[in-house]
Amino acid sequence: MIEVTHASKTFRSRRGGRSVAAVVDADLTAERGEFVAIVGESGSGKSTLARMLLGLIPPTSGRIEINGVDIAHMNAAQRREYRRTVQAVLQDPSGSLNPRKPVGRTIGEIVTLHGIARGRDDVYAKVLEVLELVGLTPAASFVHRFPQELSGGQRQRVLIARAIVLDPQIIVADEAVSALDASVKAGVLRLMNGLTERLGVGYVFITHDLPVVKKVADRVYVMKAGEIVESGTTKQIFEHPQHPYTQNLLASELVLETVL
Ligand SMILES: Nc1ncnc2c1ncn2[C@@H]1O[C@H](COP(=O)(O)OP(=O)(O)OP(=O)(O)O)[C@@H](O)[C@H]1O
Ligand SMILES: [Mg+2]
Repeated sequence: MIEVTHASKTFRSRRGGRSVAAVVDADLTAERGEFVAIVGESGSGKSTLARMLLGLIPPTSGRIEINGVDIAHMNAAQRREYRRTVQAVLQDPSGSLNPRKPVGRTIGEIVTLHGIARGRDDVYAKVLEVLELVGLTPAASFVHRFPQELSGGQRQRVLIARAIVLDPQIIVADEAVSALDASVKAGVLRLMNGLTERLGVGYVFITHDLPVVKKVADRVYVMKAGEIVESGTTKQIFEHPQHPYTQNLLASELVLETVL
């Protein structure tokens, strides 16, 4: 359902300084309902790849197709479809939630905008339904709360609710649980996994957190300096890493686990 072929992104500095090859010739696929992880050190191009998938920045070269449609060449109907099909869940400290809007309004506006439900009662019912779905219960007690009146884990659940209300096929999650404590993180991950079973949604999940990847991912892509240096099933990557960089990444993670 996602097919990235030979995608590259080079950022050129405006003042004629050196350009940055943030993503170089990346190939990536994600099937329906699949949990695909992208790992790699800071600056390796993970977020740049995510932003291209989300249509926020165009690739310098290469193609990004969603369900066979090149996102660089969509007509109006395809664009509308794409806006629903592919959703983003980012880290909340990046300011994804408007501090002046209660949770119910944030989600209700999307319901109205996309014509998912009409009329006050139906919109409200839909808002309650998705809040329940992400485990914010009793849902009615969350509708009037502002983002700053929620815990970090609850805010991430609101972001997930905002994404799934559109019934997407894929959620691009960039460090979506990285800022959360271990137990809260586990809860949100269980929720995300559960949504695959209940709604069929798949994930492109970007993280530094290798234990999380090991636990939840079906397949893994490893990035280094803009390139995908290795990919495989989670079992292959963790049990038989081929690339020295992946071997190092796993080894340093092991050291960290024993230090902490
Ligand atoms: N808008 C931009 N203009 C210029 N360079 C950029 C821009 N966005 C990213 N870069 C550069 O592209 C490279 C890849 O950045 P990217 O944010 O994709 O890395 P990342 O893997 O997500 O890192 P992290 O794990 O720290 O989030 C970095 O060298 C970064 O400085
Ligand atoms: Mg990043």
